Amino acid sequence: MSVIQVQGLRSLKGEIKIQGSKNAVLPMMAAAVLHKGTTVIHNVPRIQDVFCMLGILQRIGCDCRLDGTTLIVNASTITQAEIPEEYIKSMRSSIILSGPLLGRTGLAVTSFPGGCSIGQRPIDLHLYAFQRLGAVVEEKAEKLIVSARTLTGADIEFRFPSVGATENALLASVFAKGTTVIRGAAKEPEITTLCEFLNNMGAKIEGAGTSKLTVMGVKSLHDSEFIVAGDRIVAGTYLAAVMAAEGNIFIKGIRPEELSAATTLAERMGAELKTYRDGLEVYMKGRPDCMDVVTSPYPGFPTDLQSQIMAVMASGHGTGRLMETIFEGRFATAKELRKLGADIMIDGKRAIVHGLYPLSGNRVTAPDLRGGAALVVAGLACEGVTEIHECYHIERGYEDICRDLSSLGAVIRGME
Ligand code: UD1
Repeated sequence: MSVIQVQGLRSLKGEIKIQGSKNAVLPMMAAAVLHKGTTVIHNVPRIQDVFCMLGILQRIGCDCRLDGTTLIVNASTITQAEIPEEYIKSMRSSIILSGPLLGRTGLAVTSFPGGCSIGQRPIDLHLYAFQRLGAVVEEKAEKLIVSARTLTGADIEFRFPSVGATENALLASVFAKGTTVIRGAAKEPEITTLCEFLNNMGAKIEGAGTSKLTVMGVKSLHDSEFIVAGDRIVAGTYLAAVMAAEGNIFIKGIRPEELSAATTLAERMGAELKTYRDGLEVYMKGRPDCMDVVTSPYPGFPTDLQSQIMAVMASGHGTGRLMETIFEGRFATAKELRKLGADIMIDGKRAIVHGLYPLSGNRVTAPDLRGGAALVVAGLACEGVTEIHECYHIERGYEDICRDLSSLGAVIRGME
């Protein structure tokens, strides 16, 4: 599916079950590499990033089977510690394999992931954590080689709560001798689940959900099974969709407390919400009020929902300011939204959005994963047809956004 067509101005109604979380499952798949045996993961989303990670696991010698949404990884034999360059290029988060490879084999060979469409995305914090554990980092012939004879528990203090670096520090320290203390750790729900996942494999980690994680090194892990929670960003995208389209939907298969920054904002913007243990009912009538929003690490407003909220405000009422503090490249979506008639001004890290309704359908291009989803959301508030190109970005993180939104009554279709 490389193009999506949306016919706007239809309200949404119905119930949608949210796929498993992308950002939770990717580090779990990487964690499976630590264990010389079998790891079973349920509720795995069938998305491109998962297929890419599967490809890497197979290339380094793991035996993998994805049966529906159940993934079975047997990592008894690892035949190489190098992540092939083509995978690093197509999925930056493949860097998450370096921690487990280092922990399991004492060696991880990658290349610099480089910049990507949402900003520079350096990996200095990942490398700092490895070095603190006793690894040596070298750059040879454009390859990044991280090696260690033994990894020893250490104090790791992050200057910024990077999600990926916290995950890599956890994964690399599971087998480190003694105790590792990670301070300034990220507190995202995906970190908490990764700790639960690793503990379920036999690791000893304390402090999940706080900024101080303590890892007591163990010698081996055991076979395990785990169910991935629903994807809070996909849920937040459909929350944005109903705010743009209006209507009444039930989003199920999630933990609503993980979305509280987004649900609080949605209520301030005029949505009526009812939260249940594993779901969220949203009722939206009339145009959403524009608000001021600042992205920040969890539990703040997620950068991964900033573009979708920009799309909602673009078709809303009044003026709102969005401040992006995590990824500098995330405002690329604004340029595409303007093609739909949106009134958005960018001033450094701040975007000023004057709501206008309806927007008008046009041809646009998905700039990145969440930006692509945001254009679909905007298409719901457009008069006429919006045609979104380069939708392969969206497929990295959404199983089938057309299937999901059609089931809620949207007139949307994907084309090759
Ligand atoms: C993860 C998520 C991504 C989300 C992001 C922030 C996955 C697969 N991806 O990305 O969807 O948008 O968290 O919630 O889980 N930084 C450094 N040095 C480093 C690492 C990061 O300076 O070594 C900076 C980045 O440039 C950025 C900030 O830290 O400004 C946040 O990045 P980070 O939390 O690491 O995001 P990712 O793990 O890449």
